[in-house]
Amino acid sequence: MDKLIIEGGHPLNGSIRISGAKNAALPLMAATILAPGQHVLHNVPDLRDTRTMLLLLESFGITWQRRKKDNALLIDATNLDNFEASYDLVKTMRASVLVLGPLLARMGAARVSLPGGCAIGARPIDFHMQGLGRLGVELNLDQGYVEGRAEGGLQGGDVVFDIPSVTGTENILMAATLARGVTVIKNAAREPEIGNLVDMLNGMGAKIEGRGSDRLVIRGVDELHATEARVIPDRIETGTYLIAVAAVGGELTLTHCNPDHLASPLDKLRAIGLEIEKGDDQIKVARNGGLKSVDIKTMPYPGFPTDLQAQIMALMCISRGLSVITETIFENRFMHVAELKRMGADIKIDAKSAIVKGEAELSGAQVMATDLRASASLVIAGLAAAGETHISRVYHLDRGYDDLAGKLNRVGAVIRRIEE
Ligand code: EPZ
Repeated sequence: MDKLIIEGGHPLNGSIRISGAKNAALPLMAATILAPGQHVLHNVPDLRDTRTMLLLLESFGITWQRRKKDNALLIDATNLDNFEASYDLVKTMRASVLVLGPLLARMGAARVSLPGGCAIGARPIDFHMQGLGRLGVELNLDQGYVEGRAEGGLQGGDVVFDIPSVTGTENILMAATLARGVTVIKNAAREPEIGNLVDMLNGMGAKIEGRGSDRLVIRGVDELHATEARVIPDRIETGTYLIAVAAVGGELTLTHCNPDHLASPLDKLRAIGLEIEKGDDQIKVARNGGLKSVDIKTMPYPGFPTDLQAQIMALMCISRGLSVITETIFENRFMHVAELKRMGADIKIDAKSAIVKGEAELSGAQVMATDLRASASLVIAGLAAAGETHISRVYHLDRGYDDLAGKLNRVGAVIRRIEE
């Protein structure tokens, strides 16, 4: 396993190109299952998770290649000869559950290993299963696998989510495109990644209305065709670099991003004291003065994203004042707290909230990454800390960030990656 060695105290100056969004690329890749022919996906990031999704698609008989001239991902889903997603692949990536809906819609059958929990919580898939049940799918659990059958095909129905589940909404959305009749999804998640998926599915011949709202209406069609689609910029990667420059100082221009997807984080960062200039597809950010502590409460989109909670907590460790950070989406997303405290942070957990006392003198330490966004939080703390920070288990980072250390080093950070 590799580790990162970060020398703290180097401000970030220059420009960083934002990659395509992991959480948009994964559903778009799963959606290719729905239609034969060659799909063309642009701006797909090269990450551990997208490579895992490609292995999963290959296991169904799908073929793919990266086109040299523009690095587009060509995926041909003409010949599907298997509908089982094996445990050894699913256990490394929960988002594998996204193949469940498309396999049922295209093949009338699916056998997908239950994802199992992960560091940030139990993360069940009961909403996915309840929703598919409403579309006429017979589901049962067999030796840790979810088995679905829909011999006569899927039928449209009403699906109401207790919580606006992101991948739950995406799964039902994809399944409903080929169901007989109309499906209405209420309390649907409104993350931009879902709008990206709606655009691709409609480009494949689906009939989906309500894009961007919490009520999606899908009129089933008999078949879909392959299409060309572009993955939207990664708003979480963007937010991670914004918080990084806030923590260690300097001035960054983030290009190929979408500022409209970051309204809540940008408001918070302005209140903390960052100077922010928004362009159409870029954000200029500078830290000139001090940092002020603010309270954070994670919420479904368009609220403050849970995927930036760990990162902003690292920043609140060194800002002036007291910050109460409340995590409302996942039940165990404070794994980074113990590691930040090893670096000198002053944080107390009280149920769903972390009370962060600011102006801590962070010092480099040996720390361990526990999950994807917690590892980003430790990188940010390491950039701001005095001395060297060693972060082990950086494979977590590789799941969701395309060359994070390289991008930071090119704007002034001093980060080495070594085999542990
Ligand atoms: C997606 O996960 C993202 N992953 C997560 O990003 C993100 O943190 C999360 O949405 C919330 O925004 C992808 O898009 C691949 P949920 P997802 O279903 O869909 C509970 C990252 O770092 N729930 O919106 O799995 C669940 O436990 C990752 O990139 C059920 O109880 O999240 C959670 O408490 C981490 N039953 C809440 O709902 C279900 O069937 C929201 O989860 C489904 C979810």
